[in-house]
Amino acid sequence: MNLLEIWDRFKKNGFARVHNIPTNDAIESFYIALLAFNSNRIDVALAFSQKALSQEPCNILYTQATSYLKKVLKNGKKNVYISPTGFAEFIRGGGNVPLYQAVAKMLRNIYQQYSNLSVLDIGVGDGLALLPALTKNIRHVDVVEPSKALLDNVRKEFSRLNISHEAFESTLQEFVKSSPKRSWDLIQSTFCLQSIPPNERGDLFKWLAETGSRLIIIEFDVPEFPEQCSPDQVKYVTERYNQGLTEYLENRELVAKEFLMPVMFGYFDQDCARTNFEHSVQEWILQLRNSGYQTIECFEVYPYWWAPAVMIDAKL
Ligand SMILES: C[S@@+](CC[C@H](N)C(=O)[O-])C[C@H]1O[C@@H](n2cnc3c(N)ncnc32)[C@H](O)[C@@H]1O
Repeated sequence: MNLLEIWDRFKKNGFARVHNIPTNDAIESFYIALLAFNSNRIDVALAFSQKALSQEPCNILYTQATSYLKKVLKNGKKNVYISPTGFAEFIRGGGNVPLYQAVAKMLRNIYQQYSNLSVLDIGVGDGLALLPALTKNIRHVDVVEPSKALLDNVRKEFSRLNISHEAFESTLQEFVKSSPKRSWDLIQSTFCLQSIPPNERGDLFKWLAETGSRLIIIEFDVPEFPEQCSPDQVKYVTERYNQGLTEYLENRELVAKEFLMPVMFGYFDQDCARTNFEHSVQEWILQLRNSGYQTIECFEVYPYWWAPAVMIDAKL
């Protein structure tokens, strides 16, 4: 049975009619593992991931997925940014090294277009994109970040570098609700706005447009997969994650378990554990236009393994 046939059965009859299908090769077994995960049957997902691994014992994706599912079965799912170790190791290794160098260079070029400026960074993480980009003409920086562990690093670096700043430990949604009216010359967000469900973005983008005349977003230009768990989506994700995992050698276990696997399984998750709502650049442009941004330009940042990273420069 191929992936399309499994998908047809799943759509018509739900998971109950899929998990007893005989699977002849590893990708079919792994597909059923993902459908089981989607149906919140973690025990079955683990069994099929183990089967995929027995069918292809050297496959690094099946190896890491199996050990991640064992952990989820025992401890449940958790937010990938609460414990920062996996994320911090991930962004400091593999293709992230040239990616972040390219990001910092592009941000620096933007800052240098001003004689002096104030910046708001949304979802700053531990500052890996912002801190190396900072230029002397920045008179004040505000950062918003819900993970205390990540934000503490940024606070420390701001103090060490003596930079005028305020650091808000909150989500953008909480910040918008609680923040008194203020404005910035530039608002930026690198690889963060995809964390916010698209149906919440309209009001947030309108607020951003009212408080800053320019918004810089850097995100991955990911193909659209209209149906969660479709064979096309599964093929894209599994091929790319196999490639991404090969870039980590000594710390692969940690990066996979603490970051890459929770994010990857999140694509197939139906509940709130999903941390990622990515889509194409065209869709970002549409959302920004609907929120009032008039001039929108896009520039390729880096050809990353997951998808090309793109900078969107939106002005009112
Ligand atoms: C992939 S990381 C990117 C971090 C940083 N901007 C960078 O480029 O390295 C996404 C960040 O967005 C933060 N985040 C998630 N949801 C958020 C929200 N609703 N509002 C603000 N930040 C959020 C996460 O805690 C995390 O630090």
